[in-house]
Amino acid sequence: MKFMLDTLNLDQISYYQAILPLAGVTTNPSIIKKEGKIDLFHYLSEIKKVIGQADLHVQVVGETKDDIEQDAQTIIEQLGTETFIKVPVTEAGLATIKSLKKKGIRVTATAIYTEFQGYLAIAAGADYLAPYYNRMENLNINAANVIHALVEEIHRTSSKSEILAASFKNVGQVNQACRKGAQAVTLSPSVFAQAFNMPAIQQAVNDFHNDWRDTFHTENIHS
Ligand code: G3P
Repeated sequence: MKFMLDTLNLDQISYYQAILPLAGVTTNPSIIKKEGKIDLFHYLSEIKKVIGQADLHVQVVGETKDDIEQDAQTIIEQLGTETFIKVPVTEAGLATIKSLKKKGIRVTATAIYTEFQGYLAIAAGADYLAPYYNRMENLNINAANVIHALVEEIHRTSSKSEILAASFKNVGQVNQACRKGAQAVTLSPSVFAQAFNMPAIQQAVNDFHNDWRDTFHTENIHS
């Protein structure tokens, strides 16, 4: 499983870079908005320095094929050809995905709410598909089933596409996406925080520490 961070917050990225087996950072305009009116490409360059070889996924903003392609070109010029261009699977987006893939550009097909969008993105050759887990559940769409169907389609067609599931609000949703075969997930820092914020885990660590101290009267093995 590849774990990515769905944030642009440099402090959070630095914090979790040190902790997680981090495979990448994903962004979209709503995530960018949380950081204010930043110098986007300078900011993203700083993030690249922090994450090293991990992947960066940056979303286009344009709504027509021409505008999306120009956005993609700008992102690549500023950040390099290794950057994944996130393109929503609309009609214009799908047309652009086909075109970007012909040029060998890395593409993450995003804003996937339906199986059908996913099938089209796989056929268009997207490198990653980003189904929106929580947003689907909010619409009473069975997100786990959608991921399962897309994983089966990838196998059936021997596609190289991978599922980068997104839009999670809790670790239960992440577990479901993993079980259904998603190869990657992107989570906001708050979901990673939730995952470790379990009293039983800290209680176990405290108990081990206290038992050691009671026995050896030191705080750790090396002292
Ligand atoms: O990567 C897509 C994701 O950011 C959408 O998440 O939390 O806005 O549903 P959310």
